[in-house]
Amino acid sequence: MIHCVCRQINTAKVDQAASCGAKTANCVMKFCGTRFNCGQCRTSIDDRLQAVIPTLGEDKLLAAE
Ligand code: FES
Repeated sequence: MIHCVCRQINTAKVDQAASCGAKTANCVMKFCGTRFNCGQCRTSIDDRLQAVIPTLGEDKLLAAE
């Protein structure tokens, strides 16, 4: 899914940014080396971050078991 049409940021890119510590849409933009144009994607990116951040680290926990 494309979250940011202006900058072509998709779910995989948001997830990658989150796994590298991004906690806000602004952080995702910095991770991608860009910044907001229209800003309409902010809510979509933040929603995705909220959905994925609680699950970060579960893979590591499972791997450690
Ligand atoms: S949709 Fe992301 S800046 Fe326009």
